[in-house]
Amino acid sequence: MNKVVLVTGANSGIGLALCERLLSSQDAEGLHLCLACRNMRRAEAARSALLASHSAAQVTLLQMDTSSISSVLRAARELQLRFNRLDYVYLNAGIMPNPQFDLKAFFKGLFSSNVITMLTTGEGILTQRDGITPDGLQEVFAVNLFGHFLLIRELEPILCQAGRTSQLIWTSSSNARRSAFSLEDVQHRKGREPYSSSKYASDILSLAINTHYNKQGLYSSVICPGFVMTNLTYGILPSFPAFVWTLFLPLLWLIRVFINTFTLTPYNGAEALIWLFNQKPEMLDPRAKYHSLTSGLGHCYTQPRQMDVDLDTSEELYDELLQLEREVRRKQITS
Ligand SMILES: NC(=O)c1ccc[n+]([C@@H]2O[C@H](COP(=O)([O-])OP(=O)(O)OC[C@H]3O[C@@H](n4cnc5c(N)ncnc54)[C@H](OP(=O)(O)O)[C@@H]3O)[C@@H](O)[C@H]2O)c1
Repeated sequence: MNKVVLVTGANSGIGLALCERLLSSQDAEGLHLCLACRNMRRAEAARSALLASHSAAQVTLLQMDTSSISSVLRAARELQLRFNRLDYVYLNAGIMPNPQFDLKAFFKGLFSSNVITMLTTGEGILTQRDGITPDGLQEVFAVNLFGHFLLIRELEPILCQAGRTSQLIWTSSSNARRSAFSLEDVQHRKGREPYSSSKYASDILSLAINTHYNKQGLYSSVICPGFVMTNLTYGILPSFPAFVWTLFLPLLWLIRVFINTFTLTPYNGAEALIWLFNQKPEMLDPRAKYHSLTSGLGHCYTQPRQMDVDLDTSEELYDELLQLEREVRRKQITS
């Protein structure tokens, strides 16, 4: 049966590797891949690269900037015109803008008992300077979380259909930490860890979506791709020329012998995204985060780990997002 798969942030890194792997899989026949990207030039380049190795594949493009309310609403309308259902939506677009890497804390952490946590989650060494979108939202919150939330709400008619299931799959992170998130400040206006906050919010939003939508056949899961070398990670040390990363690579490969979350390549990082594609969503644990892992010998596998989440907090966030949705829709009508 034909399956329609929508991937946000599909033109590079983990999103592009996911598309490539989906088209290489044995289920590729009858698959329709829709790449939702903000930059159509990069989207075209990604499509050409995919078609170069899969010439018969059905790959279409959709312009969508998840930071912009009007762009998300327009894209959702377009999707409803093109498709009468969506089987999978990968909510993968994400940013970590202006990251500040605390080199001093890093070297201090290397010799502390917290070294593994620091290396696997970035705890204590990464902060960001957030921006404001033209809609007046915090940028990281808008791109990583709220744009996706609005998209799901808009797509309800083609995601929730009698007798069918659809799957939402969020690319979260091990950097998602409860301590960075506050229900009093869901957009993270006041803190310095908007990325961590937005990823924790996606973890608990996924739980709330399962509470509210499972009866309608819509299921949600979250994954962590591990530490992957992509545009996002290269941006963590922006002042370093690219070759410095090349010098680091042998060290990173060495670390991977001991730390299986160092997946390093987008292909390996996409492992849990592919694994979820092949699961029955009813059988998945809504409180688990599915981790892409790579062994020292390069074997990729997926492992569920319990998230630090609770139903009350997830419901409160859900209500906050519904309230914000009402506000932004009201503004769209009056503007
Ligand atoms: N790399 C890691 O180690 C790591 C670890 C944990 C989680 N993640 C998550 O993995 C996901 C993919 O990131 P990546 O590592 O593959 O980095 P990446 O190569 O930079 O990919 C990010 C994608 O998101 C898109 N994007 C950014 N802002 C957008 C917007 N406003 N509207 C629509 N699309 C937008 C980018 O498009 P442009 O090309 O137009 O910028 C790009 O396609 C992100 O959610 C990230 O948080 C990555």
